[in-house]
Amino acid sequence: MRILGIESTAHTASVGIVDEGTQVLASATDMYRPGKGGIHPREAANHHAEVLPDLVERALSDSKVDPGTLDAVAFSQGPGLGPCLRAGATVARMLSLSWERPLVPVNHCVAHLEIARALSGFSDPVLLYASGGNTQIVAYAHGRYRVLGETLDIGVGNFLDKLALGMGSTFPGGPWIERWAKEGKKVHELPYSVHGMDVSFSGLLTAARALQTKGVPKEEVALSVESHAYAMLCEVAERALAHLGARELVLGGGVACNERLRRMVEQMAHARGVRVYAPPPALCVDNGGMIAWTGLLARERGISVPVEGSEVLPRQRTDQVEATWRLRLREHISEA
Ligand code: ATP
Ligand code: FE2
Repeated sequence: MRILGIESTAHTASVGIVDEGTQVLASATDMYRPGKGGIHPREAANHHAEVLPDLVERALSDSKVDPGTLDAVAFSQGPGLGPCLRAGATVARMLSLSWERPLVPVNHCVAHLEIARALSGFSDPVLLYASGGNTQIVAYAHGRYRVLGETLDIGVGNFLDKLALGMGSTFPGGPWIERWAKEGKKVHELPYSVHGMDVSFSGLLTAARALQTKGVPKEEVALSVESHAYAMLCEVAERALAHLGARELVLGGGVACNERLRRMVEQMAHARGVRVYAPPPALCVDNGGMIAWTGLLARERGISVPVEGSEVLPRQRTDQVEATWRLRLREHISEA
C-alpha cells in the first residue's frame, strides 16, 4: 500500500509519501516563518495554500511515484490552527477527487507517535510529545491513545520560542536556546512546575525573563531553562512509565530534536531499564511522512471519510480517535 499524506496544522506545510515497511519515500516541506508577533493563522494558511501544490509535485518526483499507484490521500484533521488545517484539507480533497482515491483523516498527535513507533520497532511505547503547540505524555489503552499528562498552559516549544525571541532570536527559538545553552556554565534556580502528570511553563517564562532583565548572560539563562524544563518533562515521562510498567519510550515533536533533552531522557530511561528511541530530527518536527504513515495504518483497517464529511477538527483530542489498527483481532471483533 502507498499513501500520500499532507501536514498543515501550524507553521509547517509538508507532503510525504510512504509505503508498507515504513519506507518514507519522500517528504517535501516548507515552513512559514512568523515575524516578532508570532504565528498569524491566516498568513500561515495563505503560505500553505501557495506552497502545497508544489510540495505535492516535489514529493511525487523525489519518490518517482506515479499518482496512479497511490492507494489513498491522508491529511491532518486536527488538532491545529483552523485556517492552516483547512488549507491542507482543501488540497487533500482536490487530490482525492481528481485521483479518485479515498481520503483518510489523521490525528496529528497520534501521527507523531506512530512514526516513532514504526521506526523504533517497539510495539507499545509511551510517547513524550514535546513540540511548539503541544506537550503531552501519550500511551495506548483500550482502542485509543490516551493523554496521561500535558501542559496546563503553553507548549514547551512555544515557551522556548517566546523567550528566545525576546533575547534576539528569529523563529523558531528552540535551536537558538540550544546553541546558547551549550555555552552556558551556570544554572540559576527557576520555578519547577510539575503537577502530578502535568507541567506548566508560564511561570518559568516569567522568571527566565526576569533573570535576563537582571543582566544574567543569555547562555546562562538558556542553560537554566533547558535544565529545568527538560527535567520536568523527564519527571512526568518517568512517572508515566512507572505507573504503566512500560518498557519502551519514544520521543516526538520539534523539541525532541534537542540533544540535551534526548540525553536526559536516555539517562532516565536507561536507569529504569526502559528502551528509548528518538526519530531523526526531520521526522520529529511536523512532517507529511508521519501523516502518510498513520494514514496507511488507518487505511489498512478500511478507514476513510467522504469529502463532504471531511471537515477539519482544530480541537480534536488524541483520545477522540479510535486507533483501530492497534486492536488485537479479538478486540477488533468485539468492537465491531
Ligand atoms: P505541533 O502542532 O505538534 O504542536 P509545532 O507546530 O510546534 O507542532 P514542531 O515542528 O513539532 O511544530 O515543533 C516546533 C517547535 O520545536 C518549535 O517551538 C521549535 O522552537 C522547537 N524546536 C525545534 N528544534 C529544537 C531544538 N533543537 N531544541 C529545542 N526546541 C526545538
Ligand atoms: Fe507536531
